[in-house]
Amino acid sequence: MSKSKSKKIDPPDLVNDPLKDQLELKDRALSVAVEGITISDFSLDGNPIIYANEGFERLTGYDRQEVMGRNCRFLQGQDTDPETIQEIRQAIRDQVPVTVEILNYRKDSVPFWNRLSNTPVRDHEGNVTHFIGLQSDVTERVHAEKALREATLKLEAVNRNMKNDLEAARELQLDMLPERVPDLPYLDIAVQMKTAQEVGGDYYDFHIDRQGHLTFTIGDATGHGLKAGTIVTATKALFNMWAHYKNPVRFLKRASGALKDMGFRNMYMALVFAKITPDELVYSSAGMPYALYYDATASVVRELVVKGMPLAAFPDFPYRKKQIKLSRNDLIVFLSDGILEQRNSRNEFFEDHVNPLFATLTAHTPVHIANTLIEQAVHWNEQGQVFDDMTVLVLRVK
Ligand SMILES: Cc1cc2nc3c(=O)[nH]c(=O)nc-3n(C[C@H](O)[C@H](O)[C@H](O)COP(=O)(O)O)c2cc1C
Repeated sequence: MSKSKSKKIDPPDLVNDPLKDQLELKDRALSVAVEGITISDFSLDGNPIIYANEGFERLTGYDRQEVMGRNCRFLQGQDTDPETIQEIRQAIRDQVPVTVEILNYRKDSVPFWNRLSNTPVRDHEGNVTHFIGLQSDVTERVHAEKALREATLKLEAVNRNMKNDLEAARELQLDMLPERVPDLPYLDIAVQMKTAQEVGGDYYDFHIDRQGHLTFTIGDATGHGLKAGTIVTATKALFNMWAHYKNPVRFLKRASGALKDMGFRNMYMALVFAKITPDELVYSSAGMPYALYYDATASVVRELVVKGMPLAAFPDFPYRKKQIKLSRNDLIVFLSDGILEQRNSRNEFFEDHVNPLFATLTAHTPVHIANTLIEQAVHWNEQGQVFDDMTVLVLRVK
């Protein structure tokens, strides 16, 4: 090694350094550089600066004469990362180039982020004689990156909260649903629900009166998430209260008025309210899709359409009631619009396929029918995406 660490810094020696003379010639060119350029003499004790350009003066606020003969560590301060200093120290020890971003302090104590590239310079024998340091101010970029990182963290937190809200909405919705379908001597019942990623507000419920007859409801709140969950909760309370009403139209009118009075803004609830005995189905609908009816005696499938505005819109809406005489093996299917409006990649609705599919399933159990309708609707979308809650309620007269 040609390096002699015992050599003392001697200002006259620095003045006569031939490299320094050469560099001063080039200084005019180097001075226009935006970056700071420094050269240290590795053969001198402490690896001191023997050259600094104007860029360095601008960057650090130090006068060139002030820094000659000093090691550049004077730019470091309280918050400079010791690991970064260690990285530079190690590279100098190993005589290899290094690039770091290090917190430095100007002469006026104002901190700045310094992107420092240090490169060893070798003589013709390959021995390191000097180091060239390139310094640039990257404070703005580092601050921008820090702001971006902080914004990303905030966004992630918001996202987490949103996910928690969605989870809460989903739990709320599922809590509103009955734990099991009723077991009745005259009916075989199945219900199947597939919830969308963002809860879509589908709801169904059952009530058995003293004669053992079933009242059921199936509905769909406008909107998604917690908002939908809120109106579903209110609807469930009304169903619990008024499920014993004989007349479905009376239920819908009162429920519509009550929901409107609760002041949900721009929130509506589509709902079917139905009563079913062994011989008859009586129901009314507030904005729910048509129902499917399989008349086992005639072996035909019919669509049952009852038009009506969703609840909470116009409480005086003249809801209409529908009555169907039932016989053994008849099937009734109520669905939410999530099934009909399920889309494939060409934006085609599943709706047209529902009736033909149902017609092939009439010999099967309600559980099988409900599962198949949901399954096929989900598969209608090539990616299995579910845009809105899908609910199917199937009843067969025993
Ligand atoms: C040519 C050259 C330029 C340097 N420029 C800087 C600088 O701008 N800022 C800084 O914090 N360190 C700079 N350093 C690094 C320090 O001088 C020193 O090497 C580092 O703090 C690690 O060594 P130490 O443990 O002896 O302090 C430079 C080093 C050399 C050789």
